Amino acid sequence: MDYRNIIVETRDRVGLIRFNRPQQLNALNGAIMEELVAAAEDFDKSDAIGAIVITGDERAFAAGADIKEMAEASAVEMLTADRISLWDRLRKVRKVIIAAVSGFCLGGGCELAMACDMIVASESAKFGQPEINLGVIPGAGGTQRLTRAVGKAIAMEVVLNGRFLSAEEAYRFGLCNRVAPVEQYLGEALRLANEIAARAPLAVRFGKEAVNNAFENFLADGLADERRAFYFLFSTDDQKEGMKAFIDKRKPEWKGR
Ligand code: HXC
Repeated sequence: MDYRNIIVETRDRVGLIRFNRPQQLNALNGAIMEELVAAAEDFDKSDAIGAIVITGDERAFAAGADIKEMAEASAVEMLTADRISLWDRLRKVRKVIIAAVSGFCLGGGCELAMACDMIVASESAKFGQPEINLGVIPGAGGTQRLTRAVGKAIAMEVVLNGRFLSAEEAYRFGLCNRVAPVEQYLGEALRLANEIAARAPLAVRFGKEAVNNAFENFLADGLADERRAFYFLFSTDDQKEGMKAFIDKRKPEWKGR
């Protein structure tokens, strides 16, 4: 595949995937997600690779799904295109995936980081699910994985009131594995990934699967409900207003319909 929105490299036994839409704060459009999934699947198949690191840049891991791409979509269009089903392929990757997160890690970006097996954050990382400001809710696992990671109280504030979590809070609440200075977070993630890549491959594979089983009981039902609600919200005036207001750089006016 010819990659235009990501940069794919190898570092020792680690496959490194970097988002490359810096002007849009690495907003996740359809193309970037397709490339990401293809690159992760390729690394998964390669014997030379033992683990995968996904990262953005210092300013943003990813500021969410691309609002401009979906602002005008109807619920039926969202449901029929079912773009989020692409994410199911990432869940099937057997090798360990570590998200190296700096700066904005919001909306779909935060959901993507949480869909990885571990998160290494820089001190500047900001985690959040600000979909509520757009008149919608998370659609790719945010309500499910965040709640399991940090518990109900914090998850409610993040999902319902757009609260951002600092790197230090994310660490304290159990969302990320470690926090490193901005100059070191990627090196730290690569080091951790290389350590895991040096371990017994089959034991790592089954260990990942077993931990995910503990974590993901009932996750499939939760993901399906969340996805339906997210698509449904594209039939509301508030979603149109919320996304248009973001693009117009003004405050949205909510109508409750
Ligand atoms: C499209 C985006 C974007 C996004 C930023 N940009 N986030 N474009 N989709 N999610 C664009 C801006 O429009 C702007 O483009 C450029 O990136 C720089 O952003 P600024 O807003 O100028 O930067 P700043 O003032 O530093 O503010 C940073 C920010 C803000 C706080 C992260 O950009 C922001 O609030 N972004 C949206 C975050 C969000 O709501 N995410 C959730 C999306 S919904 P121009 O052209 O003006 O320079 C979602 C649902 C997931 O993720 C569902 C499952 C997949």
